[in-house]
Amino acid sequence: MNEMTPLLAGRWSPRGFDRTHVVGSGQIECMLQAARWAPSAMNRQPWAFVVGRRGDRVHERLEGLARGLSDWALGASALVLAAYRTEGDEPDYALHDLGGAVAHMSVQAEAMGLHVRQFAGYDHEGARTAFGIDPPWTPVVMLAVGIPGPGTSPAGRERKPIGELTPWQ
Ligand SMILES: Cc1cc2nc3c(=O)[nH]c(=O)nc-3n(C[C@H](O)[C@H](O)[C@H](O)COP(=O)(O)O)c2cc1C
Repeated sequence: MNEMTPLLAGRWSPRGFDRTHVVGSGQIECMLQAARWAPSAMNRQPWAFVVGRRGDRVHERLEGLARGLSDWALGASALVLAAYRTEGDEPDYALHDLGGAVAHMSVQAEAMGLHVRQFAGYDHEGARTAFGIDPPWTPVVMLAVGIPGPGTSPAGRERKPIGELTPWQ
């Protein structure tokens, strides 16, 4: 039987997290390892992350960037800010590469019983200022990591029909 791996089939993005769940530092390290081993153009690995676990100062500062824009993410076990860097005038695949690294992190999280919701609703300029993320680096998404909060569910998720994925024949 050809079936999608349960790691992908079971992945979904909660819009609310259990504010008491604690993510282990080893779990965060596994997610960073997953990012580290993602493929990238010319093996440039043009990604970097800011990682905060609830209770630490970095998490508080990341929450400050999400507050008022993505309040559902406040209190997630971990918050991660993902950035990419461009280099020279080569074709720019860095944003693509960061997406791949984040996908790796999400699947690794799933394998450890965690969930991730990526979000662009945060203060991007504030992120630059707060963490000194200057060009050629660009902050892209934040990730809320943890276990789903009460009342959240994967119900209602939809996708385009598979036929729309191959419009050119
Ligand atoms: C780049 C990116 C930005 C996103 N921004 C937000 C956001 O600002 N707020 C939000 O609630 N969800 C955000 N999401 C989550 C998507 O809405 C979600 O992944 C999509 O609806 C599919 O649901 P699923 O991940 O459960 O399959 C974002 C996802 C990605 C990849």
